[in-house]
Amino acid sequence: MSAHSHNESFTSRCLVVGSGIAGLQFALLAAEQGTVRVVTKKESRESNTNYAQGGIAAAVSPLDDFHHHVQDTLMAGDGLCNEEVVSRMVEAGPRLIDRLLSYGIQFSRAENDEDNEFELGREGGHSRRRVLHCKDLTGREIEERLLAACVGHPNIKVDENHMGLELIFGHQAGLEGVDAERVVGCVVLDRQTHRRKVFLADAVVLATGGCGKVYSYTSNPDIATGDGLAMAFRAGAELRNLEFVQFHPTCLYHPRAKSFLISEAVRGEGAVLINGREEQFMSRYHPMQDLAPRDVVARSIDRELKTSGDQCVFLDLRHLSRKKVEDRFPNLVKQCAQFGIDMAGQPVPVVPAAHYMCGGVSVDLEARTSLEGLYAIGETACTGVHGANRLASNSLLEAVFFADQAAHALENMQPVVSGNDLSVDSSVLDAIPNNSGPEVMVLEHDWDSVRRIMWDYVGIVRDRERLDIALARLRQIRKTVEDLFRENLNNPDIVELRNISLLAELIVLCARDRQESRGLHFTLDYPGKLDQPGDTIILRNHAIAGEMASCKEEARCE
Ligand code: SIN
Repeated sequence: MSAHSHNESFTSRCLVVGSGIAGLQFALLAAEQGTVRVVTKKESRESNTNYAQGGIAAAVSPLDDFHHHVQDTLMAGDGLCNEEVVSRMVEAGPRLIDRLLSYGIQFSRAENDEDNEFELGREGGHSRRRVLHCKDLTGREIEERLLAACVGHPNIKVDENHMGLELIFGHQAGLEGVDAERVVGCVVLDRQTHRRKVFLADAVVLATGGCGKVYSYTSNPDIATGDGLAMAFRAGAELRNLEFVQFHPTCLYHPRAKSFLISEAVRGEGAVLINGREEQFMSRYHPMQDLAPRDVVARSIDRELKTSGDQCVFLDLRHLSRKKVEDRFPNLVKQCAQFGIDMAGQPVPVVPAAHYMCGGVSVDLEARTSLEGLYAIGETACTGVHGANRLASNSLLEAVFFADQAAHALENMQPVVSGNDLSVDSSVLDAIPNNSGPEVMVLEHDWDSVRRIMWDYVGIVRDRERLDIALARLRQIRKTVEDLFRENLNNPDIVELRNISLLAELIVLCARDRQESRGLHFTLDYPGKLDQPGDTIILRNHAIAGEMASCKEEARCE
């Protein structure tokens, strides 16, 4: 072990990687106990949360209750939710909403209502109205308020343009008396200087969101490259249920629209899906019609498109009052107008697109991963809440619930790193010469290939033959990408490509392992459900450092 003098090191009680709702809520709670560093790879407000239009589900209405919300969540999750976890989260909902209000978040209130009650929206799979929202910009409002609270907090420091690369273990940090296998920090890349830094902490919390960018078409922003998932996997943490990728039924279909979601709340207010022949087709697929769970709606659209050969279906709001549409969805109306679409007056062309990863890093009820010292929250984590299909607008609630759980779990944690002398193994830091980087075209080609393979072969409807083709091609690409990475260790674009190509492969491995159709995973080979379903668990093969060669043997169905 030798101290590395050329690189900067920082120590705090908690290190949070990612700055969405989960990371920021956790930071605010943990800051009551000690210092918190938040590293985030772009601007701090650039997170998946920021794009959440629908809102946050909680049983706050007198017309709702805890049991209905639990039942709707379990029904959507299609037999794979952990009922205890769901119940605990749903029960905590009203308290967690009160806390969000204390940061100044302005959820929409019903007009002309003497009691100033919340205006509650409805989305697919919910048996009643329970979605708190801030018009159609809920995520942005939450993100801004939490960020403002963090930025003003004396115990919190947010580092923008800092990207997590690899986790650091006790044996690499040269810390007296610290378990060699404990996670004690993260190597972080400063995207502006291309220098590596070491952030050590008593607890490391991954809150980097999901990996929607693994698909050609997605509602996710460019940051969603699965960095936390990939870091956790490479470090040996257990990942779970990655085959359950949620496709949102209604992203705008327009040549200039990138990742533009039309919220499910629009259907909650009465919009209906129609096909090219103006037929309301959802009545043929599910009794809840346009408000059926998302997996059902996305698959129904897929079927309509495959049988008709059409490029898109349409969301029809023409029967709704223009004033109501403009009041409730001002941002969507404005954005559609920029594409020349009158949202209230003409059918809006839509297609499904990858939206949310229901699987993730396995955690317990306190957000602990399988590695000591490492926690995961938000979309990065697989908590048992979503099972095989997430109920709409449950994710923001899950994020604040597990932020709260993790913060509680850490209350009595003894200092491990803070206050200790640092002597970090130089091998974790060595800034191997950063080559000028490969040609942009080479990178773009690999990016596009990964995303296209996933879209074409690992989409809404799957089969074994296509999964095998995808796996073979992805493995070839990953080999090239690993070579590129070895030559360009500090190139953020290559780091992201490396993460996304790893995640693509892991999703395929999990999909191959599930020999049934359930929730978001539908395969033509096994159209039915197993009587005793289990989770798909995937672990890195420790024996082959840096390689994943025999995941197949490691991945097993419980
Ligand atoms: C939406 O507004 O349709 C997205 C909400 C969610 O994914 O929970």
